[in-house]
Order: sequence, then structure tokens, then C-alpha cells
Amino acid sequence: MDPLVLGLESTCDETGIALVRGTTLLADVVASSMDEHARFGGIIPEVASRAHLDALLPTLQAALDQAGVTLTDVDAIAVAAGPGLVGSLTVGVAAAKALSLGLGKPLYGVNHVIGHAAVDELVHGEFPERLMALVVSGGHSSLLLVKDIATDVTELGHTLDDAAGEAFDKVGRLLGLPYPGGPHVDRLAREGDPTAIPFPRGLSKPKDQAKHAYDFSFSGLKTAVARWVENCEAQGREVPAADVAASFAAAVADVLVTKTIAACREHDVDTLVIGGGFSANSQLRDEATRRCAEAGITVRIPPIKYCTDNGAMIAALGSAVVRRGMPPSDLGIGVDSSMPLETVLV
Ligand code: KG4
Ligand code: ZN
Repeated sequence: MDPLVLGLESTCDETGIALVRGTTLLADVVASSMDEHARFGGIIPEVASRAHLDALLPTLQAALDQAGVTLTDVDAIAVAAGPGLVGSLTVGVAAAKALSLGLGKPLYGVNHVIGHAAVDELVHGEFPERLMALVVSGGHSSLLLVKDIATDVTELGHTLDDAAGEAFDKVGRLLGLPYPGGPHVDRLAREGDPTAIPFPRGLSKPKDQAKHAYDFSFSGLKTAVARWVENCEAQGREVPAADVAASFAAAVADVLVTKTIAACREHDVDTLVIGGGFSANSQLRDEATRRCAEAGITVRIPPIKYCTDNGAMIAALGSAVVRRGMPPSDLGIGVDSSMPLETVLV
């Protein structure tokens, strides 16, 4: 029988604890401090760290109860050691070390962003030999070539400025929508004309191909939206918010999907996993589904509760690492707020 792996996630504002055996998810419990940040219009790291402290033990107990196991049944502890907020990471890693030490079970410090891809093994089964992973959220937008989720991940590109979700949140603020604006912009965009305004596609010019073929940039797009709205207001015209949202969302989805399909072609990959909280975005889902079908690429997107930050993604990656027989992490590991995306395990 595969080992029982406990996964602990605390990189940002979600405290997640899950239990996985092999690729079977036995429990997944998440506590979020998002409500405590909403009034500030962004995550306050100190508030997030304290919330992790409060949530940790109740979340752990709830996960054990859900799986019908006790701590002594756990064979290995996996924890997100980065990238993320230093304070938040520190709470989770310290707790994981304490569990490892107290239970005498190995500790595996794993990469949060790679976990966003790994979780799909719990949903759609073991990965094929090679795949592409597009991880998009409020904090990350990365394109990863995954030859083996536990041992061989190459970062092909990332955003040079805003993450996709972050750009949506900023445009949401511009259009006077509540925080976080992403889902509101998505909803509004569905009522608008995506071809109404030709917003720029960042890093998509021929001159960008040499250095930034698979990198993203959304800050120029965000500025273009702001200028367009300002112009409209200056002329005393009513801002066609739905058309602005739809045209903006189309530009983001177009760039993400175009670059991802090009990367699949170049690296001879026919499976794409999309993870991270922004994979809830309907414009991205529609565009990826339609264009990947045309290109003969199978798209795997986990249900949204496994795309936002959660413990299952860390337990899934921990389980993959354990199944490959990788050596555990040292109990002295630190947290790495900017952990490289090629580092699966520290
Ligand atoms: O993964 P996640 O829950 O948190 C992290 O950033 O780690 O991602 C949340 C981000 C936020 O920026 C949110 O506005 C955005 O994803 N988001 C969306 C949608 N749902 C969430 N953006 C656009 N359309 C959506 N449907
Ligand atoms: Zn995340």
C-alpha cells in the first residue's frame, strides 16, 4: 500500500491540510483568512500569518477526522516551503517540522507552484510522461514543462510584472468592482463584446520571441485599459464597462493560450494542465478548450476547489515525491519566499 502523506499549505492566506494515499485524496480541509483582508483591498502578510497560527490545529484535526485516521497513521509530512509570504510559510514549515519530529516521520519541503499542477493527478489520474502546466493565480503566472512532476520540471516562462489574477483585480478596481475583482470582471465580460476594443497582447511581437517567447506581461495591458477608460470619461462618454471587461479578458486569455500552445508544439507535448485560482476564469477556460481541441492537445483542469490554494496540492506533490523514493528534506530547511520553479523538493 502507498504511504499516507499529510500535506500542509500555508503560503498565502489559505491554511490547507490534506491526506493523500497514492493518488487518492482522503481528506482536504481549507481555512481562509481572505475575509480579514478584503477591507484592505489586498493580503496583509502579518494578518495572514496570525490567521495560520489560529487555523492550524483545528484544520489538522478536521482533516484527520475527515479521513478517519489519527496522526500515528501518517507516514510522511509534506509542506509547502515556498514560494510565498515569509511569515505564512514559516508557520506552516514550523508546524510540519514539529509533526515530523514528534511522529518520527520524514519531512518533505515541496514547491507550492508545482503543487498547483500536481493536484490534477488526484482528479484525472497519473500524469503521462510529459506535459505542460500553466499555473495562473493572483500571485503566479508560470508555464512549466513537466517531464516528471517529482523530479524534472523546467520553467519555460513567467510573468515579468503582474500575475493574471492580479491584473484582473486591478482592472476590477478601475471599473469600481469589489475586491478581489477577478470573478466580477469575468462575469461582466460575459455580457460584453470581446472584439470591441483592440487591447495590446503583451510580449507577443516578433521582437519578443527571442528572449520572451513564453514570458507574460500584463502591466502594459492594465495601463492601456486605464488610459482607455480615462479617455472615455474625459470625453464625457459613459464607460461601456462590459465591453472593456470583455476586451481585456480576451487579451489575457489570448496571450496565455497562444504562448502555451506554442510551447506544447515546440516541446512535443500533447497534455496541458491548468492550475491556480485564475483557472476559474471562463474566458481562459473557453479559449484553452477551443484552441487546444483544434491543436490536438488534451486539457486537464481540476475543479476550482483544487485550483485555489489548498492542502491537497501539497499532499499530491508530496505523494509523488515519496512514490519516486526521493530522499526527505533536512529538518533544518528554511522557507524560500522566491523558491525557483525548477526546485520540486528542498
Ligand atoms: O489561487 P488564488 O485563489 O490565490 C492566489 O493568488 O494564490 O487566485 C486568486 C486570484 C485572484 O486574483 C482572483 O481575482 C483571481 O484569481 N480569480 C479570477 C477568477 N476567479 C479568481 N480572475 C478572473 N476570473 C475568475 N473567474
Ligand atoms: Zn497558489
